[in-house]
Amino acid sequence: MSNDEKAPESARNAIADAALQPATRLVHGGYDGKTWHGFVNPPVVHASTVLFESADAHFHNRARYTYGRQATPTTEALQDAVSELEGAAGTKLAPSGLGAVTLALLSCLSAGDHLLMVDTTYGPTRHFCDTLLARLGVETTYYDPHVGAGIAALMRPNTKAVFLEAPGTATFEMQDIPAIVAVARAHGATVLMDNTWATPLYFKPLAFGVDLSIQAATKYFCGHSDVLLGTVAASERALPALAATHRQLGLHTAPDDVYQIYRGLKTLEVRLARHHVNGVAVAEWLLSRPEVTRVRHPALPSDPGHALWKRDFSGASGLFAFDLAPVSETALAAFFDTLTLFGMGYSWGGYESLAIRARPDLARTAVPWTEAGPVVRLHIGLEDPRDLTADLARGFAAMAAA
Ligand SMILES: Cc1ncc(COP(=O)(O)O)c(C=O)c1O
Repeated sequence: MSNDEKAPESARNAIADAALQPATRLVHGGYDGKTWHGFVNPPVVHASTVLFESADAHFHNRARYTYGRQATPTTEALQDAVSELEGAAGTKLAPSGLGAVTLALLSCLSAGDHLLMVDTTYGPTRHFCDTLLARLGVETTYYDPHVGAGIAALMRPNTKAVFLEAPGTATFEMQDIPAIVAVARAHGATVLMDNTWATPLYFKPLAFGVDLSIQAATKYFCGHSDVLLGTVAASERALPALAATHRQLGLHTAPDDVYQIYRGLKTLEVRLARHHVNGVAVAEWLLSRPEVTRVRHPALPSDPGHALWKRDFSGASGLFAFDLAPVSETALAAFFDTLTLFGMGYSWGGYESLAIRARPDLARTAVPWTEAGPVVRLHIGLEDPRDLTADLARGFAAMAAA
């Protein structure tokens, strides 16, 4: 191990009182202002070189920080805040949410291994499995999100990892997480979950036996649609391999971005509560619309995943979808082009509302897509939902007129 690879001691300012509520932990987690001249926020440290105090410290690599890529007070503040929120043994940062997914997968898979990946995973995650992982000799099988304990039938002797994402990208299927985790763990496989939708505020993967909890911090941790970053929070048993892979890959996250995500965490609880309420309000309104054949939102009692969501999750974010009765491309385009408050953009989790056409018909392989009409994915932001439903109503009127 070279000098620059020595892992620094954590600057962790763990909140000792485990009884604190999540909102309090978010506000006070990660960094204690009293440790740095009383400034309530952590310093934004721009650093590659870190100077040793003496030859003795240099020869024995005796220093809290030794290399900017390894750790700074800024990266540690975010890592520690996320670890506290996730209930994790440790957290590593990646330059994007997709980077966090690929870091986590690379930390637990080798040539000759088999991966079970949920069919409803985020598209670029699937692309990584089908390209780089395949090139490295890892075979991926996509499984039905509704598989539950039936995943046992898909396990092979070389199945080393099982990956979940709930609810599923674009179509919002819930998974029976405890049932899948039980089978995977009995088999000795590492369990990974992309938990970007709920965030660890509304679902805590590690408390359910997941080993690697992945968050596209780009979304709700950030909250303002202006920073890309990813986090992977690990259980005790998964942390050594995660930390080693992070070091081997030379991943680094820029200090200003890290700081913005740390800052975003402080308001996560209030923002998410509003996304939840606004999202449900718009989803309920859509249920009453004649153009809409189905609303895909697990917090709605009519959703097939509602019982699982209610059992395991404590809230919903602002992302969901609805199916339209079959319409022409022209009419669908008129709907989107008429919206003024909803922007057409992919990356969600910010303060603003978004609408895009989802294409599950092009993505799924384990479960063939059979729905006839188009799927529209909405992100409901922090606007007043009455203005948002009025905007959608104008879109539906334009669709009918086209
Ligand atoms: C569920 C999910 N995971 C991961 C990502 C990737 O995040 P990033 O854009 O930061 O790479 C996204 C992005 O949309 C996502 O929706």
